[in-house]
Amino acid sequence: MLRVGLIGCGFMGEMHANCYKNIEGVEIAALADIRPERSRALSDGTNAKLYSDGKELIANAEVDIIDICLPTFLHAEYALLAMDKVKYVFIEKPVALTPDEGKMLIEKSKATGARVQVGQVIRFWDEYVELRKIIKNETYGKVVNANFRRISPRPEWGWNNWLLDYKLSGGAGQDLHVHDVDYVLSLFGEPEKFYSVRNIKGEKNSYVNTIMQYGDFVVGVEGTWDLPASHPFEATFRVVFEKAVLENAGGKFMLYDKNGASEIKIEKKELRGEAYKGGNISDLGGYYNELVYFSERAKKGEPIEQATLTDGVSSLEFLLRELAF
Ligand SMILES: NC(=O)c1ccc[n+]([C@@H]2O[C@H](COP(=O)([O-])OP(=O)(O)OC[C@H]3O[C@@H](n4cnc5c(N)ncnc54)[C@H](O)[C@@H]3O)[C@@H](O)[C@H]2O)c1
Repeated sequence: MLRVGLIGCGFMGEMHANCYKNIEGVEIAALADIRPERSRALSDGTNAKLYSDGKELIANAEVDIIDICLPTFLHAEYALLAMDKVKYVFIEKPVALTPDEGKMLIEKSKATGARVQVGQVIRFWDEYVELRKIIKNETYGKVVNANFRRISPRPEWGWNNWLLDYKLSGGAGQDLHVHDVDYVLSLFGEPEKFYSVRNIKGEKNSYVNTIMQYGDFVVGVEGTWDLPASHPFEATFRVVFEKAVLENAGGKFMLYDKNGASEIKIEKKELRGEAYKGGNISDLGGYYNELVYFSERAKKGEPIEQATLTDGVSSLEFLLRELAF
């Protein structure tokens, strides 16, 4: 059994706990949260030892892997300690708040040999996995232009409302937009040029829109959490190829080509347990896939090759260049 220590039992901690409860050969052995009711809630169906702070878990728990679902401003501090304790560490995205923190994490992983995965979950989300294959194989020719969009109600679920404090989360620019930026960079690398705009008045970085030029094609990436609670969360993309258009929107993954419009169906795994309803995500999808990958790698003692620490830090650095004006 692979023994997991999970630090931070809020929205994302609950999502991860639900995923681990569905993965064969994995048990949640320790849970930490400064709000004991949160760790207690996630311990249902486990024999987990409960800790009242992440540092206490790192110092005392007998675990093989540590998963950090803390608010972003605490990631680096706890991940540095975790890398001294175990060989496999998972850090939620964005990997850290600043490039300096990112560098410290990379140095620590080199010094300890710790293998780190970052929660850039879009890389594991079914439709985005399929899109990557289609682009790589040039199934419908080359990309002509693409657009990725992530729009959300304001995230008001966070502990002490930390997400809405720009200095603690980086705002929507860093917290939400990072998903699509990381995915686009993983597909195409860094653009030759980009132009980015964001709001700087009111709640800074609650809206960001970037247009990237890659030789012959252009990619737009838009993110905001300026929407009211009544508006659904939406993560969508539209990619125009030479011979077809793929669109993932409104819960449908569609192909438009010379034969007409058709839906691309992707088989989904049935999972136990419900996703946390307090946030903006309705199923375990990519979270399950990324944690299966992470725990399989840890079980086999293999390196992490997807959503690596270096990937997470590179995406953070690019993102901060987008937001730096
Ligand atoms: N991958 C995604 O799609 C996604 C979605 C939402 C959040 N996130 C990321 O997940 C991370 C956590 O976000 P969240 O939405 O779960 O926040 P949250 O506020 O819901 O949860 C954070 C938890 O950490 C606990 N905590 C605070 N200090 C602690 C400490 N010292 N020791 C132990 N527990 C402590 C809080 O009590 C809280 O329960 C953030 O980095 C966020 O950006 C990722």
